Amino acid sequence: MQYVFILGHNPKFSVAEILAVLPKAKIIEQSSSFLVLENKSFNSAELMSQLGGTIKIGEILGNQISKKITVEKLKQIKIESKLNFGLSYYDCPKDNLGMEIKKELKAAGVSCRLVVSRDKILSSVVVSKNQCAEFLILGKKWLGMTLAVQDFADYSQRDYGRPARDLLSGSMPPKLAKIMINLAQVSKGGKILDPFCGSGTVLQEGILLGYEMAGSDISQKAIKDSKENLEWLFASFPRKRESSVKKVTDPRLRGDDSERVKAFVFQVDVRKISQKINSIDAIVTEPYLGPPLKGLENRKQISEIINDLSKLYLDAFGEFRKILNYNSKVVIVFPAFRSGKEILELPILQQIKKLGFTQLNKDKLIYSRPDQKLWRQIYIFQLSR
Ligand SMILES: C[S@@+](CC[C@H](N)C(=O)[O-])C[C@H]1O[C@@H](n2cnc3c(N)ncnc32)[C@H](O)[C@@H]1O
Repeated sequence: MQYVFILGHNPKFSVAEILAVLPKAKIIEQSSSFLVLENKSFNSAELMSQLGGTIKIGEILGNQISKKITVEKLKQIKIESKLNFGLSYYDCPKDNLGMEIKKELKAAGVSCRLVVSRDKILSSVVVSKNQCAEFLILGKKWLGMTLAVQDFADYSQRDYGRPARDLLSGSMPPKLAKIMINLAQVSKGGKILDPFCGSGTVLQEGILLGYEMAGSDISQKAIKDSKENLEWLFASFPRKRESSVKKVTDPRLRGDDSERVKAFVFQVDVRKISQKINSIDAIVTEPYLGPPLKGLENRKQISEIINDLSKLYLDAFGEFRKILNYNSKVVIVFPAFRSGKEILELPILQQIKKLGFTQLNKDKLIYSRPDQKLWRQIYIFQLSR
């Protein structure tokens, strides 16, 4: 089957995530806004909820834009009320096809409404609110039809609706957390650790993806926030509660397991984490990224931050190798600092390699706007000896 994936704001991330989740997929065409793939058939709604970086998933109907195919497809839809349909144009200008389809449907006695927006792309909000059958016109070449769209309301609830949000050390976007977890390619039910768990974004996304999650942090407040957010998650997404709570009762997790959620999140300095936990299948984390920047820091001040972080991360990787199962991955955010025209990075890749890790990401995966002072760069390492 041929499918199209409409990519999110960071297309490189979206593509890396899709290929991590569908490793057997064959790329047919890739642009900055979509990816056409050949893959065996899948449940598009399930896959959509698994991916953090994909906006829409569609099936490819053909490699030319055919009005006949669109009209036939719409006639097959069984609906009691008016049929809503729309078109989105990627990498090509809008045209009059929508009106032409509408005319043909009307002539055939089909009651329909053409859903339009000011933009040439219908947002996932518009598509789902209007329950709209949507055609995807891809670079004037491929014709696709939407099968599933990203659940924007769900993400927004998990991002802004949770009770404890740490505005000082910053919460990462749930979509980024999900992408990073998928990049770790852990089999379902495997055990993932976030040793800088903050308010628990990685933990919550991992639980929803069906992993056993463990989280730790040096800060008591972070542990309290994570627990509060996880309790909220279990209450707000009750379908997931049973399996999630069961998964956190893990005898390998040393510590206080009198209350399941307590055992699941624990306070420890990452530099001592091997004293608390072992047998981890992956580490997915956004570590401490340094003190909040005012934007006025000079090169010397940034170099000091880089030195401190380099020491902390190298100590952390020394501990990671003790607690990770063989061949497991570390998917981690490293900061890069913009100072004038220079981008300053942590000079630790060689030392991480010496600790037995291989860097898997060939390309730079940057998750930030270019004008930001601090860039998040995602690295994927594998413990290979
Ligand atoms: C950028 S925040 C993590 C944000 C988290 N990803 C989230 O979305 O909530 C970094 C966290 O690292 C923690 N931290 C700093 N130094 C640490 C250390 N030595 N060991 C463990 N955690 C540490 C801080 O307390 C903070 O909660």
